Amino acid sequence: MFRPAERTKNYNYAIRNIVAAAKAVEAEGRSVTYLNIGDPVLYGLQPPASLMEAMARAVREGHNGYAPSVGTVAAREAIVRDAEARGVYLSPDDVVVSSGASEAADMLLSALLEPGDDVLTPCPTYPLYTAITAKLGARENYYRLDPAQGWTPDPDDIRAKITPRTRAIVIINPNNPCGSVYDARLLMELLTIAEEHQLVVIADEVYCRLTYGPPPPPMAQLAAGMDVPVVTLESLSKSHLVPGWRVGWMTYTNTQRFGDVIAATRKIAEARICSPLPTQQVLPTALADQQHLPGLIEAMKLRATITVELLNAIPGVNCVAPQAAFYVMGQVEDLKGQTDEAFVLALLRATGVLFVHGSGFGLNPHDGYFRIVFLPPPDTLREVYAKLANFIRQR
Ligand SMILES: Cc1ncc(COP(=O)(O)O)c(C=O)c1O
Repeated sequence: MFRPAERTKNYNYAIRNIVAAAKAVEAEGRSVTYLNIGDPVLYGLQPPASLMEAMARAVREGHNGYAPSVGTVAAREAIVRDAEARGVYLSPDDVVVSSGASEAADMLLSALLEPGDDVLTPCPTYPLYTAITAKLGARENYYRLDPAQGWTPDPDDIRAKITPRTRAIVIINPNNPCGSVYDARLLMELLTIAEEHQLVVIADEVYCRLTYGPPPPPMAQLAAGMDVPVVTLESLSKSHLVPGWRVGWMTYTNTQRFGDVIAATRKIAEARICSPLPTQQVLPTALADQQHLPGLIEAMKLRATITVELLNAIPGVNCVAPQAAFYVMGQVEDLKGQTDEAFVLALLRATGVLFVHGSGFGLNPHDGYFRIVFLPPPDTLREVYAKLANFIRQR
């Protein structure tokens, strides 16, 4: 037998790993409602027509070659204009276009971390970050999001967790998996901690266009004038309903002491050649025409309202109302001695409904959390919550 590398042992991504169990249920001839992955296209949502047309045109007009490693000038200028409209002032040199925000996170952390370093990571987390740190021989250093405070972080907890090897803090706002949105005061406190301890701020703002109320200020805007590098990650995957196009980017702010890391990230970007050119061609159209967003947000808000009402109506189940995106972290208060994963798998086998267990996002397996992606149409969601209620009643 060939032996896989040690570092893959801790390399997990529960959102997709759990699909094997769902496939086994389907192999028995039963249908599964997949509420595990945040892919709007799976649930019938389609990108704006203007965007699909721009993509087809890009391919037809011959934009099928390699692109510059950091992205085309036109794509980076479009990102600069979009940031400027939100009070963040950049130059195209501060932008790297990537294959989704995922690749940007991978390139940045690969350029930054030595084995043994740690990264302050929210718990629950989006598991991309723990997977990357595991791959690099670094480690996640969890700070807690508190459900009693609407799943927001506690600055004192973060301060207490900092070690001599802490290099960066990941801040996911708006948040996946919890749907929370942090306000400007809290964000300023987090920036101050990062400045004091010389940490790189990794601001994952993939959901910044999908808040039900006013969006929070971008981290890069709040950090203006501070001595703290902020790397912002964004993508079109969710806001423009094109996760399969793999188009994202990172931007650098407050780069005065960050030039060497930027140069190292650029070397990594060059080795992987480039992100897909047709999607880069489409970026200016996508960022200039966002008329679909109010309708999309209304649809998500409706699903969030149904979800919160029906989950909290089930005896022994609770959730905090999300304020953005399409995720909620539910909790079953009595696991009856099971782990959260065993609960989610039993629910799947009994009802054909697939959630992801909270421990897949770093939570304690005995705390009873599970994440739901509430993207399907309202009627499907009502059926799902009726099945969940039934399952819990009959346990
Ligand atoms: C918080 C967060 N960050 C990053 C990503 C990665 O998105 P992409 O690589 O499609 O841009 C996701 C996808 O679900 C996410 O939820």
